Formats: sequence, structure tokens, C-alpha cells
Amino acid sequence: MKEVNVGIIGGGLMGKESASAFARWFVFNDMPVKPVLKAVCDLNEQVLEWYRNVETVQQFTTSYKELLNNSDIEVVYVAVPHHLHEELYIEVLESKKDLIAEKPFGVNLNACKNIIKKIKETDRFVRCSSEFPFLPGPQKVIEYVKSGKLGKLLEVKSGFHHSSDLNPNKPINWKRMVKFCGEIGVMGDLGMHAVHLPFRLGYYPISVYADLQNIIKERPDGRGNTEACDTWDNAILHTRIQKEDHIVPMALEMKRIAPSETNTWYIEIIGTEGGVKYSTKEPKTLWTFNVEGKSQRWQKEDLGFASVLETITGGIFEPGFPDCFQQMLGAYFVERTGNLGDRFGCATPEEALRSHQLFEAALKSEKDHQVIVL
Ligand SMILES: NC(=O)c1ccc[n+]([C@@H]2O[C@H](COP(=O)([O-])OP(=O)(O)OC[C@H]3O[C@@H](n4cnc5c(N)ncnc54)[C@H](O)[C@@H]3O)[C@@H](O)[C@H]2O)c1
Repeated sequence: MKEVNVGIIGGGLMGKESASAFARWFVFNDMPVKPVLKAVCDLNEQVLEWYRNVETVQQFTTSYKELLNNSDIEVVYVAVPHHLHEELYIEVLESKKDLIAEKPFGVNLNACKNIIKKIKETDRFVRCSSEFPFLPGPQKVIEYVKSGKLGKLLEVKSGFHHSSDLNPNKPINWKRMVKFCGEIGVMGDLGMHAVHLPFRLGYYPISVYADLQNIIKERPDGRGNTEACDTWDNAILHTRIQKEDHIVPMALEMKRIAPSETNTWYIEIIGTEGGVKYSTKEPKTLWTFNVEGKSQRWQKEDLGFASVLETITGGIFEPGFPDCFQQMLGAYFVERTGNLGDRFGCATPEEALRSHQLFEAALKSEKDHQVIVL
């Protein structure tokens, strides 16, 4: 395996997840390339301290410019609050390094466009994080749709729900404030998860009507006071897609206040002759629908571990979040070397742009209570 030196900017929740994925790279079979985590940047010294456990890391810094000046680093994973995406992604590209970007790929549409302009100028390899389609279930969904078993497409539902904001006493953090998370709120936080697979199947909205909710308007600031919690908590986007000779409704849901849900990613695609649905709530179950004569039935299939990239893990074992996140990073590095072939790849900058166009239209729809044509 050829080694590639990697740096992380933003060592929080997702920085640690990626460090852990790089550390057990030997799980992959026939991998042409091996990322080696060499440098980490975070403003918080305590966060940097955690990375002392990662033997390969040689540079610990609180200045991302210092990390970008390290000529050994070839690829940088950036996982910082959304208002910093534009500045940091652009500087990574200017430093002639490739980029694994986090969603939403800029705090708004304009930031996303500026990042894409820089990608074109610098010709660097850039992909955006969205890991759930790398689970075996979503891969089976893609296979099913491509098989043509759906018949005429009737409707699509895709979404991401959690309930970590249900408790009004949970202290505020940057994800709940427009100045850090962006005006698109929960759409920036969870939207890419909901749109990645539909976009990859060619389901592009031609219009949107949005129901956006700001349910909890202030939260404790952790210092005995309260602070405005001004982001959208939940978003339901009623979209339409054009399929050959007919219009198909597609419901995209992103919720931070979905009682009883922890981290539920789901997709349902229904046609006149068949249907397929998958949810991480039943992580090893694929449901398919078919019509046989007069009977119509849903069937349940237990899935194994088979994912996009081959691993040593037993075929009957169950996958989880760390697995799909690692598969996504694996796909990034394989595609970067030009060896992905027709296997599923990470979300592209163009898909991120489409997502921002949709979210901006959703904001307008909410404001004017109107359907917005895309
Ligand atoms: N793919 C996923 O499933 C997933 C899940 C959660 C978050 N995310 C995305 O990852 C990104 C980060 O989210 P998180 O949950 O890891 O946040 P986090 O708050 O846990 O971590 C962010 C880190 O960035 C550091 N930071 C802030 N400004 C910095 C700067 N100027 N230089 C260096 N470090 C800086 C902070 O100190 C913090 O440690 C966001 O874009 C978010 O949308 C993706």
C-alpha cells in the first residue's frame, strides 16, 4: 500500500472518528493506498491532547496555517463549524493539498460556489462527507433501483432524524446558532445525508415547498444564563422530481427534534411494480416490495457486511457508523488514485452545490409560504 500523509483540521467529534478509521486501515483487502495521520490542528489544547494516543501524529498545532505549511501533508480532512468552511477549504486548496470536506460544504450557497471556483482553479481532488450510503442496505437500494424492478416510479422519501435537541435544557453549542451553523440550520447539519443517495439516483428536485420549524428558541449557555437558539430545528421539504412523462413527489426530512430517534437515516422508493426501503433503525434489514399476480407483499431480508470496498470482516456480521464512515474514507482514497471504477463514490462538490441550491430555495419557500421552482 502506498502511504499518503494526512492532516486533520478540527479534531472534535468527527476528527476523532476519522483518526480512528485511519488507524484500522488494515481491515481493507486489496487497498492501493494507506492514509497515515501525521498532523492535527485544533484550537483546543485538550482536544490536541487526545491525539497524543495516535502514534503516527508528529505535528500538533493550534494554527491551521502551520499545518498547511507542512509540505509532507498531501490530504487534509477539515471538520470545523460551518462558518469556517469557505475560508479553510479555500486555504487547503491554495496550499496544493487535496481535501476531504465536511458537509454542508460552506455555510451557504455563495460560500459553496466560492469553494467550487477554487477547486476548478487549483484542480485538486475534493469530496464531501456523507457516509450512510456506504452501508450495505443503501447499496442494495441502489442495486434494486438500477435493476428496473420498480416499474413506474411513484414516490421517494429520504431523511435523517435524531432527537438530541428534544431536551430544552441541553446547553447551546455552535450547531444551534445561525452565526456558526448558517441560516439553513438543520438542513446544513443533516441535509446532505438526506439528499446524497436520491441525487446519485438522478432524483433532482424541480420544485420545493418547505416546512421549517424553530421549536426551541433559547437554551442554557452553560454559564447560568440563556442564549438565543435561532437555527431551524426541523425541516420537511416537499419536493417534486420529473421522471420521463410524469411528476414524482419526493419528501426530504431533516429533524433534530424527532422524539425517540437517535441517528436514523432512511430511504423509501416505491414504484408500480416494486419498492425498496431501508432504515438504520433496523440496520441489517432490507425491505423489498413486489407484486405477484393478485398478491402484493413486502419481504424482509437480513443483510450481511458486504459494502463498497472489500474487508476482512465476516460476511454475516453487522456494520455500524464507524464502518460506513471508514468505507467512505476508503472510497475517497481509492477514487483519488483513480481505482474506484463503477463502485459508489463520495458526495461530489457538484452534489453539494445542488444541495445548497435546494436549501436556499427552501429558505425562500418558508419565508414566502410558496412553492419555489428550481
Ligand atoms: N459526517 C457526519 O456524519 C458528521 C457528523 C457530525 C458533524 N459533521 C460535520 O463535521 C464538521 C465538524 O463537526 P463536529 O461535530 O466534529 O464538531 P465539533 O464541535 O465536535 O468539532 C469541531 C472542532 O473544530 C475545532 N475548531 C474550531 N475552529 C477551529 C479553527 N479555526 N482551527 C482549528 N480547529 C478549530 C473546535 O475546537 C472543535 O474541536 C461540521 O461540518 C459538521 O457538519 C459530520
